[in-house]
Amino acid sequence: MHAKHEQFSSKLGFIMAAAGSAVGIGNLVGFPVNAAKNGGGAFLLIYLLFVVLVCMPLLLSELSIGRSTGEGPLGAFRKVGGSNKLWLLGGLLPVLTPFMIGVFYTVITVWILGYLIISVSGGLQQLAQPEYFGQFINADNLIAYQAGVIGVVLLILFGGVRDGIERTARYLMPALFLMLLGLVVFVLTLEGAAKGVQFYLQPDFSRISIDVINGALSQAFFSLSLGTGVLIMYGAYLRKTDDLPSSGRFLALADTSVAFFAGLMTIPAIFAIYPDTDPASLSSSSVSLIFSFFPKIFMEMVPLLGYQSASALAVIFFALAFIAAITSLVSIFEVPTASLADETPLTRRQSLLITVALASGLSFAASLSFGKSQFLTEFVSYAGQMKSFFDVLVDLFYDTVLPVNGFILCLLILWRWKIRQLSDELSIQPASQGWLERYTAFAMVWVVPWVLLFVAASTIHSKFF
Ligand code: TRP
Repeated sequence: MHAKHEQFSSKLGFIMAAAGSAVGIGNLVGFPVNAAKNGGGAFLLIYLLFVVLVCMPLLLSELSIGRSTGEGPLGAFRKVGGSNKLWLLGGLLPVLTPFMIGVFYTVITVWILGYLIISVSGGLQQLAQPEYFGQFINADNLIAYQAGVIGVVLLILFGGVRDGIERTARYLMPALFLMLLGLVVFVLTLEGAAKGVQFYLQPDFSRISIDVINGALSQAFFSLSLGTGVLIMYGAYLRKTDDLPSSGRFLALADTSVAFFAGLMTIPAIFAIYPDTDPASLSSSSVSLIFSFFPKIFMEMVPLLGYQSASALAVIFFALAFIAAITSLVSIFEVPTASLADETPLTRRQSLLITVALASGLSFAASLSFGKSQFLTEFVSYAGQMKSFFDVLVDLFYDTVLPVNGFILCLLILWRWKIRQLSDELSIQPASQGWLERYTAFAMVWVVPWVLLFVAASTIHSKFF
């Protein structure tokens, strides 16, 4: 049988591409900040439990249903769900979700590219000024950086699955990992880093609350690119001869390790440079951390290393963040692009151009919601707070929709696809069932849907009411 979509060239190629999607801003910023302010080792433990007990079964299910149907989310829901229109709606959400995530993800990637370029051209000192970030995000030349980001995304996605997504990830992901390890080793040799390590890893269970538990699950979903159609799509690009369960295991391990190491880099660096840091002060906004905090940290190293070397460290750091962001962004736009090409007579190129053009327009609007446009800055108000357009996107598509999408997929699998077919798909290669495959079949009935239902309901309650 001829596969409808282009496929990854090997299991390794798939793993690299999927890791490129998974490892992103969520790992580098979201995880360390969440862990630091929500009980350190206690958060880590909850996060790990979620990854193994809830995310792994869903991750394998998404890959399986994608590979079995050979379709992206829309096609998979249609093939498995049948004619009922409600299932089609269920398949539309995992196409819309990455598109909307792409809108705010682009905004942050544009900032990262800006900071990378400025630190390459010797502007570290400028970046470290207290007011700089606030001015930067409203500066007119942001549009040039946005054009740069869009250009890179288009370039990679024009190459297609194998020559674009897979090839980029094959080179960039190992580079990212080495840079990260290098920075971790460097940070851990700084005086005072031990206090940060202790803070990062020491469990403080008193900080655990329902919101923290929900936050840990949202973080794990976002980080693994779960609940968004990416893994269904990538499953369709996975060859039948490749070992699916072991790929999934490796993917989860790689993603979680990067998150863990990012924490081991970030938190001790902050404590080494600012020993009196109050962890509560990290809570304001996690994204602004890399922009307002990190340049200052690198500037503080100037007396120790000299301006050149401190700038070099900054360049490595922002290059690392840019690689992480761009390989994720590519996966985010692949889903709507491929879906549009599948569902309409448009070619892949046309679909790509339409998707990216629409998303960049919206993303440009989102970038005005930090003061430039009053309408977008004070967009709506709910739960007693004024929210900007950007905030709304994050609240909806980062915190809320992912568990909802996951839950709908559980329903599709339980009612229409049946656990039997899931198990069959999981044991094509290798032919025998390990504990993970057996746990997946069990958890998709008795664990995952219930946890997701609970988390989705309580997140909606606390975010919007
Ligand atoms: N996982 C990425 C991160 O941690 C973000 C990401 C990539 C993503 N692809 C996605 C999130 C698809 C949701 C959906 O930053």
